[in-house]
Amino acid sequence: MTAVLDNSCASFATVSGADLQVPLVNGSTCTYANFDYAASAPALAHVTERIADLLPYYSSVHRGAGYASRVSTAAYEKARVTVSNFVGAQSDAVVIFTRNTTDSLNLLAGCVPGDTVVLDIEHHANLLPWNDRRVVVAAESIAETLVSIEAELAAKPAALLAVTGASNVTGEVLPIDELAALAHRYGARILVDGAQLVPHRRVDIEALGVDYLAFSGHKLYAPHGAGVLVGKRDWLDAAEPYLAGGGAVRHVGLDHAEWAPVPARHEAGTPNVLGVVALAAACEALEHFEVAGSVDHERRLSDRLRDGLTAVPGVDVLTVWNDSPDSVGIVTFSVDGFGPGEIAAYLSAEHGIGVRDGKFCAHPLLARLGHADGAVRASLGLGSSDADVDRLIGAIETLVADGPSWTYEEENGWWNPIPDPRPFPELAGGAAGVGSPCATQTVSIAS
Ligand code: ALA
Repeated sequence: MTAVLDNSCASFATVSGADLQVPLVNGSTCTYANFDYAASAPALAHVTERIADLLPYYSSVHRGAGYASRVSTAAYEKARVTVSNFVGAQSDAVVIFTRNTTDSLNLLAGCVPGDTVVLDIEHHANLLPWNDRRVVVAAESIAETLVSIEAELAAKPAALLAVTGASNVTGEVLPIDELAALAHRYGARILVDGAQLVPHRRVDIEALGVDYLAFSGHKLYAPHGAGVLVGKRDWLDAAEPYLAGGGAVRHVGLDHAEWAPVPARHEAGTPNVLGVVALAAACEALEHFEVAGSVDHERRLSDRLRDGLTAVPGVDVLTVWNDSPDSVGIVTFSVDGFGPGEIAAYLSAEHGIGVRDGKFCAHPLLARLGHADGAVRASLGLGSSDADVDRLIGAIETLVADGPSWTYEEENGWWNPIPDPRPFPELAGGAAGVGSPCATQTVSIAS
């Protein structure tokens, strides 16, 4: 099978679910408008085709003599090279495959020889893992925030500055090159949480001066559950293995183990070859689409969405800074008189639009921005179109002007239409059911 990289005009690339028909509470159906890319992006056609190509060969990696096993192993190692090239890694850097960004950050947290400085705007995955954490509260501008970070680094040595590349709440992009220079000036290294940035902007770690980069396949249009930690070898080679087990060792006796160097040292257990090959296929596709103008496409759509929502009376669009030069396709907002859960339920039930509501695993930031009860996040990407954006803006205009047409009630932190006549497909049990680990929990950030 040949994987075709197609750039259409309405949207930029073919993604799975692009023509998904979903039921509405009034008994009709419509094409799903996916505005939840920042949580998990739909799979690119190029990725699903690559997985279909690999499945006949799917077998054990690094373990078998069979032909299929050798092909699987070669595909896995080829993916390491593809990912390394995609992020501009140099020869002293290593690519370690993980489950996702959270896994990558927890892995690195066990290797850092000293304090880690973080901002208070971070996703919980880039707040909670760091053992000796010092939190800097972001200022009103990026320029002032850089001054605050510099003061923290100057006051006391830190081993690492861990920052997001783009906020998962507001989409705002940080000046990674300036942050890298700042960290290095004070003898620290820099880790970039690239979960939201890497799917939408090219990140060349050598050019930016980044020491470590973490990102996830599931936000990079690649399902099957693989993530990446890429960066300097020395800390990773000096640390205990992230998981103890087969594949991470050179030799084992009953009372000792001789651990392998990286990457094997931190990849114990049978590797996720489908996830890793999917992720590498997504990297290939993103390079192709970027050359064809995908970044401009996404910027135009997110500007259209932000401008359209801002113009609706009672809508407040969240930002951290007043001088952000760039944002990825994330627009988080509130609507006067309606709770975020109710808005999300209304968009789904009456308009077939999927957004995320809540606190986005960034409780401290939502609280500081005055939205401790959460907000609504609309996020877009390669498969998004002008028509999707206009549908979302129109649905919010209707909500503000006329209110919802259905009744919604909250139960256990989740808003649902009452009644909800929409059936689930058989693969989901044929009945409705919801739940979220981040909706109801709280996190504090004592430094
Ligand atoms: N970290 C993902 C998000 O921000 C799940 O939605």
